[in-house]
Amino acid sequence: MIKSRLCDLVGIKYPIIQAGMGPFSNNNLCVATANAGVLGLLSMSGLCGREIQPYVYNAWVKTADGSPDDDMATAVEKVLLRTYNKTKDKGGVFGINVMVSAEMKKEADIIINKAIEVREKHPEMKKNFKVIFTSAGDPVGWHDKIKGAGFIWMHVVPSVKGALRCKKAGVDVIVASGHEGGFHTSWEPVHSMILLPAVVEAVSDEKTLVCGAGGYCDGKTLAAALVLGGDGAQMGTRFIATQESDFNQLWKDSIVAAGDRGTLVARGFVGPARWLKNPVSEEHARNTLKKSPGVYLGEPDDMSTIDFSLIQYELDALEATFNSNKDKALMAGGEAAQRINDIPTVNDLVQEIAKETEDILKGVQKKFLA
Ligand SMILES: Cc1cc2nc3c(=O)[nH]c(=O)nc-3n(C[C@H](O)[C@H](O)[C@H](O)COP(=O)(O)O)c2cc1C
Repeated sequence: MIKSRLCDLVGIKYPIIQAGMGPFSNNNLCVATANAGVLGLLSMSGLCGREIQPYVYNAWVKTADGSPDDDMATAVEKVLLRTYNKTKDKGGVFGINVMVSAEMKKEADIIINKAIEVREKHPEMKKNFKVIFTSAGDPVGWHDKIKGAGFIWMHVVPSVKGALRCKKAGVDVIVASGHEGGFHTSWEPVHSMILLPAVVEAVSDEKTLVCGAGGYCDGKTLAAALVLGGDGAQMGTRFIATQESDFNQLWKDSIVAAGDRGTLVARGFVGPARWLKNPVSEEHARNTLKKSPGVYLGEPDDMSTIDFSLIQYELDALEATFNSNKDKALMAGGEAAQRINDIPTVNDLVQEIAKETEDILKGVQKKFLA
């Protein structure tokens, strides 16, 4: 049986985090992953763009047993109660992924305050709803609220500098996200092979755990994360292509279809992003080179300076994805797509990953030590 400090801290069977993947709904995926023995994360960012992406909001609330009329706080309460009701019998453990960047601060406050309130109102949830995972912003300033309410706090970073900031903030589990990963990536990215051991060396200690993200999708890569000093791995792209995931069939099939060199980086809503390669993303990359070259030069731009037609292109193409319009669809995905060839149930997938990891780790001594 594999084990790690992440399993002990969170009370999960396998050292795997199912990534929050907003703004899309992960509401059904989270139930399935939690019940399969990994940490399931509900992504909350789909609740933050109701005006610009109403189709995302509507799909999100539908998978929360809510209605398009629900406001953000009501939707948060509904999804938490729904997830609890669907995980409590199997002891599934789940959390929420909340973007805390400066421009999302107001929404992040509403979501986190509501989550704390719901758990206080229903203390029986504490056995299952254990984690607040913050992303896309500065962790400093969130400690008292999140830790004060008794949650395990995780935060994702793309650099050692970010990890040191997490350490200062008092984060429990730092997730080091490499450039292989799907969707948003950083302006000056580093790949997992370098980033994970560097972050482990910089911040891991008896109080601070480190997990990898970006490129992890099977037993080989999970074993690698553990051998590189990590306490586990977060997987996003791998979980999109599962039976229970909320992503549509076009997206799942496109991950399976992606082959060698199957992704590219182009502008995303909040910075550089990794997309599955297709004619739409290739055009987006050509436009990015012209209109947002900083994506390739490591020089950030933002909404105040960028040519908005680039963002509009992304919004239109994401809507096409939602409408399963294959010719116009733009789909985020990580390099791991190249290694994903099936759409299993979550439980079968997790069992397979766990077995492969165990076999590899058992075999290491026999194979490589005299
Ligand atoms: C479609 C998609 C949406 C994502 N949205 C978010 C998000 O809203 N917040 C976040 O912290 N990470 C987000 N991520 C990144 C994942 O949380 C995770 O770190 C990443 O997928 C790991 O790399 P992998 O795709 O190689 O597994 C997203 C990834 C994907 C593929």
